[in-house]
Amino acid sequence: MDEHNLDRRSFLRGLAGAAVMVTGLSEAAAEEPSAAIAKAGQKTAIPDIQKYRGLIGALEGFSATIIREHLALLERYRQELSEVESHNRTIDLALADPLASKWRNHVLAWIELHNAVRLHELYFDALTPKSVKPGQKIGKALEESFGSFDQWWVKFRATAMAVRAWGILAWDNQSKRLVIFGLDNDSEWPLGLEPLLVVDMAEHAYVLDFIGQPLAYLDAWLARVNWVVVDSRLAIASEK
Ligand SMILES: [Fe+2]
Repeated sequence: MDEHNLDRRSFLRGLAGAAVMVTGLSEAAAEEPSAAIAKAGQKTAIPDIQKYRGLIGALEGFSATIIREHLALLERYRQELSEVESHNRTIDLALADPLASKWRNHVLAWIELHNAVRLHELYFDALTPKSVKPGQKIGKALEESFGSFDQWWVKFRATAMAVRAWGILAWDNQSKRLVIFGLDNDSEWPLGLEPLLVVDMAEHAYVLDFIGQPLAYLDAWLARVNWVVVDSRLAIASEK
């Protein structure tokens, strides 16, 4: 396998150590940011990851460990994306080939990593320690598209249970309606759909806290969804 052909599972190996080394999000860091940054030196204090630090240990049902390690994985994806983007200048485009070539590997790795980063940002951006109910816009849209919030949840949960990577609620700007779909990996996306809400169904997102209980994970996740964020995403998507 090419070095840029990334496998999520390979990221998971040794991830606990990487969490501290790469992001500085150790137990201590969760409590005392400045001290952790000072301890970990120049490799820490990555602003975009730090913005999620308030989620560590603050989400009911989710341990500090699973959130910290998941954030470390996001940071790994970001770093790998940055490396892939910087390597593209060194690849000979004249040797591009659909069977096996460095440029092919670059093209495929970029999609995988770009989406992995964006999907994880969508996931973490819409989590909150508070209890937030769906706002008027998204509440009305869910009702119009699926009959009721409960009917939406039944379909969304079933879709998430049927895939290996992401359960997704999206806005279809062509048909002007909400759509539920799922992905087995990061590299495919139906055209024309704007993501509103995503749930990570890869085992790394829940297995430490919910071994063999993905349904319990989904219930815990739903209780921590920040519907204000979803409402605002719908407003932006539907006005395009
Ligand atoms: Fe993930």
